[in-house]
Amino acid sequence: MKIIKSVEEFKSLREAISPRTIGFVPTLGGLHEGHLSLIKESIKNNEMSVVSIFLNPTQFNNESDLATYPGSLSDDLKTLDSLDVDIVFTPSNEAIYPNGYNYKICEERTSSILEGEFRPGHYEGVLTVVMKLLNIVNPKNAYFGEKDFQQYILIKNMVEDFFLDINIIALKTIREKSGLAMSSRNNRLSDEARQRASLIYKSLLESPSDEHARATLEEQGFNVEYIKSWMGRRFGAVEIEKVRLIDNVSL
Ligand code: PAJ
Repeated sequence: MKIIKSVEEFKSLREAISPRTIGFVPTLGGLHEGHLSLIKESIKNNEMSVVSIFLNPTQFNNESDLATYPGSLSDDLKTLDSLDVDIVFTPSNEAIYPNGYNYKICEERTSSILEGEFRPGHYEGVLTVVMKLLNIVNPKNAYFGEKDFQQYILIKNMVEDFFLDINIIALKTIREKSGLAMSSRNNRLSDEARQRASLIYKSLLESPSDEHARATLEEQGFNVEYIKSWMGRRFGAVEIEKVRLIDNVSL
């Protein structure tokens, strides 16, 4: 497994391995089974697989969320080495934003609802970094999780709008036994809260209405940011023990 930090080095390696089909999985690190399902799918369907680990500062609208984001690079590298990942790209902030954050990808419609409404600037940061990473890695296939369904839709539409020849593939949300969607942030919960958080999935899935799901979660002590149906799915963002969790289900 090759670990590459510099954009220039990545680009010259990319040229050397062309025209092999590359599968790409971008991540923020703190790898768990949700990430691994994307990586395994990439390995299965491409000649080579690239994973990026980059804790992108521009998509965090909350300083303390960025500062406390869980993840250990050495653990992640061990995990990736035990799968059959070919290249791990771990750039620094300076490598990705050499001239600062002056050019941005700004989407005007879908990014203003749900997560976009509650996390101003979040999707600008996501779309900008994903565009940069796709330009560097130049994959044939890129894999994203339905866990962040709105993000997947925004990236899929961006790639189409900018005429990139890349397939954007979404895979199912991987859940803990309780139903709680896997997330790096789950580790910040107490055992009790982690158990209680299984109610998020259950109420998104089973409630007769968005309002009913909200009421159920509020009764159980969750701080509910939004519960909303969109594109045949129900989306929710809640806070418990100051940890913000999101999920969505197909209705
Ligand atoms: P991150 O949260 O690390 O997630 C990386 C990828 O893993 C995303 O496509 C996300 O949807 C997927 N994922 C996370 N939890 C999952 C789960 N439980 N089941 C299935 N897939 C899951 O999303 C990001 O990073 C960033 O915004 C990024 C796209 C890397 C841009 O910085």
